[in-house]
Amino acid sequence: MIDTMMKFQNQIQQGIPAELPPANTYPRNTNSAPKRKDILSKEEKKLAIRNALRYFPKDWHSILAPEFVAELNDYGRIYMYRFQPKYEMYARPISEYPAESQHAASIMLMIQNNLDPNVAQHPNELITYGGNGAVFQNWGQYILTMQYLSEMTNEQTLHMYSGHPMGLFPSSKDAPRVVVTNGMMIPNYSKPDDLEKYNALGVTQYGQMTAGSYMYIGPQGIVHGTAITVMNAFRKKLKKGETTNGKIFLTAGLGGMSGAQPKAGNIAGCVTVCAEVNEKAASKRHDQGWVDILIFDLDELVERVKVAQEKEEVVSIAYVGNIVDVWEQFYENEIFVHLGSDQTSLHNPWSGGYYPVGLTFEESNEMLRTDPANFKIKVQESLRRHAELVNKHTAKGTYFFDYGNAFLLESSRSGADVMAENKIDFKYPSYVQDILGPMCFDYGFGPFRWVCTSGNPADLDKTDKIAEEVMVKIKVTAPEEIQQQMQDNIKWIQDAKKNKLVVGSQARILYADAEGRMKIAKAFNDAVENGEISAPIVLGRDHHDVSGTDSPYRETSNIYDGSKFTADMAIHNVIGDSFRGATWVSIHNGGGVGWGEVMNGGFGMLLDGSAEAEERLTKMLFFDVNNGIARRSWARNEEAIFAIKREMERSPNLKVTLPNLVENDLLDELI
Ligand SMILES: NC(=O)c1ccc[n+]([C@@H]2O[C@H](COP(=O)([O-])OP(=O)(O)OC[C@H]3O[C@@H](n4cnc5c(N)ncnc54)[C@H](O)[C@@H]3O)[C@@H](O)[C@H]2O)c1
Repeated sequence: MIDTMMKFQNQIQQGIPAELPPANTYPRNTNSAPKRKDILSKEEKKLAIRNALRYFPKDWHSILAPEFVAELNDYGRIYMYRFQPKYEMYARPISEYPAESQHAASIMLMIQNNLDPNVAQHPNELITYGGNGAVFQNWGQYILTMQYLSEMTNEQTLHMYSGHPMGLFPSSKDAPRVVVTNGMMIPNYSKPDDLEKYNALGVTQYGQMTAGSYMYIGPQGIVHGTAITVMNAFRKKLKKGETTNGKIFLTAGLGGMSGAQPKAGNIAGCVTVCAEVNEKAASKRHDQGWVDILIFDLDELVERVKVAQEKEEVVSIAYVGNIVDVWEQFYENEIFVHLGSDQTSLHNPWSGGYYPVGLTFEESNEMLRTDPANFKIKVQESLRRHAELVNKHTAKGTYFFDYGNAFLLESSRSGADVMAENKIDFKYPSYVQDILGPMCFDYGFGPFRWVCTSGNPADLDKTDKIAEEVMVKIKVTAPEEIQQQMQDNIKWIQDAKKNKLVVGSQARILYADAEGRMKIAKAFNDAVENGEISAPIVLGRDHHDVSGTDSPYRETSNIYDGSKFTADMAIHNVIGDSFRGATWVSIHNGGGVGWGEVMNGGFGMLLDGSAEAEERLTKMLFFDVNNGIARRSWARNEEAIFAIKREMERSPNLKVTLPNLVENDLLDELI
């Protein structure tokens, strides 16, 4: 055991090995990343190889060059498989990392968690989630970064350029230990093919959100976010006193993220019906226990749903087939759908993200291969029919929302009847416009998270308890406007362990506002100090939050002053967090909705029980949330104006510019 640990530590400390390691037979398996686009010219390929070889001594070049050429030709990227470490990849207890700085050790832990095969989607290609969410571009970058982290002191900062460790620079103990940028491009070079090209050259990468910032905690985040969304969507729909039991949430997709829907539906307490055309994806979620029942026949589905309605059940049902058929069948059988949405991969409509009705899964895949032009026509026809059925249901009272998957965008492009009367907006809101924006982000509620660096589940239990106590206490005097959010999150944390969502590091997510985040963090820091918790805690958050992300069709889609196409907020956030005490900060181009479509950032912070940590958490968390509330308030969002005024009352050093509201009539008369 000790021997294994020393070996691990020695390997980390040596960085690029002194001797060329043996070639690694390509570990290709079902978890491998797909072949990437072959986009480079002959000369550019030479440049990509030259770029890759600069990590290694010259006398290895004649051996490595043909290997890298083969990787580039076979997989479209150079991963440097030969340098993939042989030790197990997972988040070890923090004390096992060789380090001069505990802060740096915590970052090593988080990096290894993001690359853990039990956590990561394509671990051999250093991809954590979302198909292309990279931690590093290649294994050379990984081993160099880990070496830098093992030797750095609290007087240095490591600068990460899209996975490449540029090096350690002198700084100070108050500076972040690591600054991460991913995919930062000159704006004119931020088209999808630019990513393909510059990523293949080895000079940029797509960090998604929490992949490239070392803050991924597995599926827990998406389950919690989806549960919050579904619960609040029901609140918009249900009459006072009505419960969710027996009420139907109809949606589609049981893939990477969408697979969270039935689990979230069960947490929200409704009847979830989720269509999935791919039997394998549906069975996987069923085997995992994320969906209760699998049904293959439409008549059987209708019968089962009627029973669930009648008995007011809480149950999740996967229908193995096309979502359009379900909308149709429910309409014909007069099954009332309370809540409707969709999480098929419509950000990728022509290459298998959306399967058209009328074809089986296999027929679609065959057509996609042999006749992509016809497949596109089928998708467009299907979307028109899909939207028409949604319209028929909403005419009867269904509440439908777009779940950030471009359903309305692609339906409109296909000629479906989804535009509002003004011909600019869609008929239906997105989940951020109607739900997460006004109900959570504008008040400062967002996906705060933490990781216990001991790796001990008992520590996680203690943090759950502490967080619950803090929230319960805050709720007593919280204003009416945020009572519901407090209550939802108290319930979430009470049930968190029961929901069994921990994969990889001992981590938890919770939606809290600035006050909640600061008070919970302080209580954790105290518990580390007095030994109640056995090792430091890493704090962080998803980038899908109040302040960290500028994304006009998602996180900032409920900004209506025209500024949703700007990215100042995300940039101010990362700079502001960096000098207020973050242990590491990150800013990314892309994430969720795509390259060039969003700027998003995050932070990590180590709570080691010290007085310095308390000062940092107080300063940084305050800004990390209130920066976004101030911007949302300036955009005239009512809830944010309320929240920032409340914050100014209790924080004398905060003075935010407030908007003066203009009477509509004044302008209507003039223009
Ligand atoms: N709102 C959010 O917070 C959020 C979060 C993550 C992802 N998304 C978006 O949601 C979408 C889904 O993400 P994912 O990671 O689950 O993708 P995924 O590709 O892993 O899963 C989508 C699933 O939909 C199924 N499907 C496609 N067409 C269908 C049809 N007509 N009927 C039934 N099933 C069908 C596919 O077989 C697939 O399993 C993406 O567009 C993503 O960008 C939104």
